[in-house]
Amino acid sequence: MTITFKKLHPYVGAEVSALDLRAVKDPESLEQLRAGMDQFGVLVFRNQSLNDTDQLDFATRFDGVLHAKQGATALKKNRFNNDAIADISNVDNEGKLLSPDDRKRQYSLANRLWHTDASFQDPAGRYSTLSARVIPALKSNTEFADMRAAYDALDESMQRSLEGLQVHHSIVHSRQLLGFDFSTKEINALPGAVHPLIRVNPRSLRKSLYLASHATRVVQMPVAEGRLLLLDLVNHATQRQFVYSHEWKDQDLVIWDNLATMHRATPFDDVHHHRELRRVTTIDLPWPKRSEPLEARA
Ligand code: OGA
Ligand code: MN
Repeated sequence: MTITFKKLHPYVGAEVSALDLRAVKDPESLEQLRAGMDQFGVLVFRNQSLNDTDQLDFATRFDGVLHAKQGATALKKNRFNNDAIADISNVDNEGKLLSPDDRKRQYSLANRLWHTDASFQDPAGRYSTLSARVIPALKSNTEFADMRAAYDALDESMQRSLEGLQVHHSIVHSRQLLGFDFSTKEINALPGAVHPLIRVNPRSLRKSLYLASHATRVVQMPVAEGRLLLLDLVNHATQRQFVYSHEWKDQDLVIWDNLATMHRATPFDDVHHHRELRRVTTIDLPWPKRSEPLEARA
């Protein structure tokens, strides 16, 4: 199958030519898609009528192992009884819209902070697949910032000074910034994780900044100095020229590389308009180990 990519932004994001991801199983096509991810960081697939099983199966074919510790699962079992599926929606178990003070709504509002998925876990998330099931008539875009372009735009002495730094990420930190209350049990279940500030794509060898609002401190620096550096870098990396804003259509599937991008939800009238997506994220394991089961399975 020949797959083509149409650029959606100067740096990040491309729309993939018409195909049915349920049928994409041969190693060559999967490899073309991985190469597209290396190049564009975000891929948009239109008209994918996926159910949960289709989405789980595709993510597994694409990248091997799924992430089942995505944060919310430490708080409560989700309504799908499968921790590999993140419920990105504003409805309760009966499908009713969440009220403004509902704890699930309060928790998911933090998606409006710039972040990378599961950076507070080790291993973190690698590729996230987000499948649109119910999209409201009004705009509820997801924005993606290109952390490779942001890295490239730093001057060389700054790039050198960041080399080797490590950052602690905690979902408790990012949620508490918004005033969300965690119990002691929840805090103990979510200790956070340490990751390098500069990440290298193991296939293309391109470098990127690895940041998120979950970032609490730079391991090698006094707390305040590290936080100021992280704030500066997030402000730099999320300038408009680095950002692709995705306007959702029904049945879109969007995949992003969490090593190459940060993302955030944008506000909309979620108390009155139903929006429902499902996210399945793969685990960031060292390359090429990750590719082994994948080729065997394909
Ligand atoms: C996610 C996420 C943003 C949105 O699914 O990981 O951050 O717009 N979603 O729903
Ligand atoms: Mn996210």
